[in-house]
Amino acid sequence: MNIVLIGFMGSGKTTIGRKLAVRLGYGFVDTDHWIEREQKLKITRIFEVYGEPHFRSLETDLLERLTTVGNTVVATGGGILVTPGNLELIRKIGSSVYLKAGVEEIFERVSRNTKRPLLQTENPLQKIVELLEERKHLYMQAEHIIDTGSFRMGSIVSKIIKEL
Ligand code: S3P
Repeated sequence: MNIVLIGFMGSGKTTIGRKLAVRLGYGFVDTDHWIEREQKLKITRIFEVYGEPHFRSLETDLLERLTTVGNTVVATGGGILVTPGNLELIRKIGSSVYLKAGVEEIFERVSRNTKRPLLQTENPLQKIVELLEERKHLYMQAEHIIDTGSFRMGSIVSKIIKEL
């Protein structure tokens, strides 16, 4: 069985995914890190040099390959569901879990670094609000929805395990 974590940037997919994999004795794949390793380029550079559509096609290509893995937790990039067809691929891979976080929490987490090209704007808070509004309905297609609120990462992992 596989578990696919989806949700907005800064919702804790990587941190929670890693802990969840350890607790379950599963493998762990983070799609952003995987793409960076394969392309030998940081996401910011991929966006700058080749553009967002190219990055989106790399995401889809990786999802296709992940349909054959087992006992793995997959943490995805926040925009993975924007590409038509990716939701179906995710459903093929395994059980999808939306880590639902609020705008303030997201802003607080993402403002600590500059590695997210879509938020390198004059008003990142406004951008978060807009993107979240655009994507909310996509995230809500997940099989499980976990409110991350202000819970500690460890207790979110327990919540996911209980819910599955
Ligand atoms: C993106 C989210 C990022 C990364 C890229 C685009 C998005 O992943 O894939 O910068 O469109 O929301 P995280 O959700 O891990 O930050």
